Amino acid sequence: MRFNLENIPSQKGKIAIVTGANSGLGKEITIGLAKKEIKVIMACRNQSKAESAKAEVLSKVNNADLEVMILDLSSLSSVRNFASAFGKKYKRLDLLIENAGIMVPPLSKTEDGFESQMGVNYFSHFLLTNLLYPLLNKTKGSRIATTSSLAHESGRIDFDNLNAEKGYSKMGAYGQSKLACLLFAYELKRRLEKAGSNVIAVSSHPGVSKTNLFANFPKIAQILMVPLLPIFTHSPKHAALPTLYAALSADAESGDYYGPTGFNGMKGKPGKVKSKPHSYDEKVASELWDVSEKLTGEKFIL
Ligand SMILES: NC(=O)c1ccc[n+]([C@@H]2O[C@H](COP(=O)([O-])OP(=O)(O)OC[C@H]3O[C@@H](n4cnc5c(N)ncnc54)[C@H](OP(=O)(O)O)[C@@H]3O)[C@@H](O)[C@H]2O)c1
Repeated sequence: MRFNLENIPSQKGKIAIVTGANSGLGKEITIGLAKKEIKVIMACRNQSKAESAKAEVLSKVNNADLEVMILDLSSLSSVRNFASAFGKKYKRLDLLIENAGIMVPPLSKTEDGFESQMGVNYFSHFLLTNLLYPLLNKTKGSRIATTSSLAHESGRIDFDNLNAEKGYSKMGAYGQSKLACLLFAYELKRRLEKAGSNVIAVSSHPGVSKTNLFANFPKIAQILMVPLLPIFTHSPKHAALPTLYAALSADAESGDYYGPTGFNGMKGKPGKVKSKPHSYDEKVASELWDVSEKLTGEKFIL
């Protein structure tokens, strides 16, 4: 079935959290949800960037119901503060959209000692899901949507070097973080089913879209990319559609993975896609889950 945002009815009354809502795909996802009258909590690390993105969304969807809340995924205490503030204010959570991410930065560690891509892209989202789960579980028809990437294909989970303790490859760490997001989404689906929960765990990837994500690429590579962009990338508006499909479509099922269905999965209409076989490895997923509980300091009780 083809996904068409225009055909999705109003979802008034629902509340969504979008991490990294101020830029690129997160901003487009926010616009899509706001068009469906969903209240969107823009979970961002920088207040002024978030406020200007909010103003931009409001200029496009004038009845948008938006609220900025500060969330810095490079700090587990910020994740805890965010979840606690959200829980005090809201009694339901329909959609948790884990979109924020960074790619190929120079080696750095988060406040809690995670390699920054593993920390921001994966570990903090793992803890965020854990802390918000009780509210999601209380909300009928709720969904958790995790963001992966084509980069999961070359990723591998190196339990002996999860946080660049024994060396750092920028792309290796990005691939590992995005594979971790996918292993988590599938493991979450299995554990939710086992627990008899009705919460749905879905995931998506946007293909390729020239956003701020590429800011860490060498300048020369960014210049050389320009003539190729129309061939292998699509606009952030189109790249946001797989996540909107995962979040909004009535036919989405737990465990589904959505992405562009055109040119090598890099662009094109959104649809259900298949990730690489190693992303379905249940042994690795289960071990990663245990390590994630340990490193984030919180047992994930479903
Ligand atoms: N664009 C692509 O081609 C592509 C391909 C595959 C997967 N993805 C994935 O899609 C997602 C969105 O990426 P994008 O292309 O929209 O990139 P983007 O324009 O750079 O947006 C990334 C968002 O993440 C936020 N973020 C970064 N570090 C954060 C932190 N410590 N705490 C909270 N928020 C943080 C950024 O906030 P600031 O603005 O404050 O930095 C920004 O809002 C990412 O997960 C990315 O891995 C993108």
